[in-house]
Order: sequence, then structure tokens, then C-alpha cells
Amino acid sequence: MKNVRAAVFASGTGSNFQAIMDATDLPVDVVLLVCDRSDAVVIDKAKQYGIETYVLEPKRFSAKEAYEQMVLEKLRELGITWLFLAGYMRIVGTVLLTSYRDRIINIHPSLLPDFPGKDAIGQAYRAAVGTTGVTVHYVDEGIDTGPIIAQQEVVVKPDDTLETLTNRVHQAEHHLYPAVIRQLLGEKTQTSLPAKNTTKVGNVQ
Ligand code: GAR
Repeated sequence: MKNVRAAVFASGTGSNFQAIMDATDLPVDVVLLVCDRSDAVVIDKAKQYGIETYVLEPKRFSAKEAYEQMVLEKLRELGITWLFLAGYMRIVGTVLLTSYRDRIINIHPSLLPDFPGKDAIGQAYRAAVGTTGVTVHYVDEGIDTGPIIAQQEVVVKPDDTLETLTNRVHQAEHHLYPAVIRQLLGEKTQTSLPAKNTTKVGNVQ
């Protein structure tokens, strides 16, 4: 039993959820998966890890506030203090931001501020950049905006296909996200002060 209880928010495959769950030395207990799609693969992954899953589809609500209010009640019921977005393809609204400001982080598969939004790896590939990467950042009202915590570069090789590049970017994500959580939450349990510095933590070639 650790001090900090967290929820992962995800909408899709859940490979980042899995990377967080597999990092068993994190100073945090992930006790809930919040998923906004009832057909998401990540739901099965959560079952395998024995993690409670809260599936709630926003389209069933008249407004984002009502949807987030339901999610908020669940988070409070479980004493959750940190939210990790891992492929949660939705803009976080005021209800969650008000309660969890500076305690919501997101991973994005580009070197932000470049290529925010959907299909970031494809955007970078089509732009023929020499280097792309991965960013973990605090969440604010925008799409993949918010103060950057850490980035990891991924070099685009001349013979990369979109698939090979995608694989290496995902590999970088699966390394970076647990590393940031380990460092950030480790620091916070000791100091409880937010530390919004940008750290480059190496290259994935
Ligand atoms: C990940 O690449 C994540 O960075 C991205 O969605 C993918 C989810 O994969 N998130 C965004 O693009 C957020 N703007 P996963 O479900 O296998 O973790």
C-alpha cells in the first residue's frame, strides 16, 4: 500500500497503461482505469491486472460537465489524487481540471509543441522531420498544451516506415511515462511542491 492513489484514463489499446502497470516500483497505486469507450481494448488489459474499470461514455450525457461530475464522484470515492492520461482522446474539462489542477499528466507521441492532436506520429512522419519524440506534460484546457515535464527524442531514420517509426515512438513512451511518474511522485511524496521543469531524458535511436 503506497501513499498516492492514481487513476489511468485511456480510450484505446492501453499499451501505456500496461507500461505503467508493469512498472511495479512506482511510488503510486493505480487503483482505477477510467475509459470513455465501451469497446476499448484497454478494458481487457485492466481485467488482467485486476484493476477496477469505470467505463462511462460521454455521449450518454447532455454535457461534458455532467460526464466529468460522475467521473469525479468515482475518483473521490476511491481517494484518488493523481490522474495519468494514457491515450485518453478527449479534452479534459473544467470539472476535472478544477479538482485536479497540477495533478493531471498526459503522454503525447511528439516533441510538443510540435504536432499536437491526433495522429502525431503520422504528422511528424509526413512532415519528414529528422527527429520526433515523446512528451509528458501537465494537462490544462488545451489540446496537448500545458507545462512540459519531460521529453525523449526519437531519431527518424532514412529508411523508417510509418510503422517502424511508430514502434520506436511507442517504445520511448513506455520507457518515459513510468520514469516520469517515478520521479515526479517520488519527489512529491517528499516535498509536496509541484516541480515544473523540462528534462530531456535521452534519445531512442
Ligand atoms: C499513445 O501513443 C499516446 O501517446 C497517444 O495515444 C496513444 C495511445 O496508445 N495520445 C495522444 O495522442 C494524446 N494526444 P495506447 O492506448 O497503446 O497507450
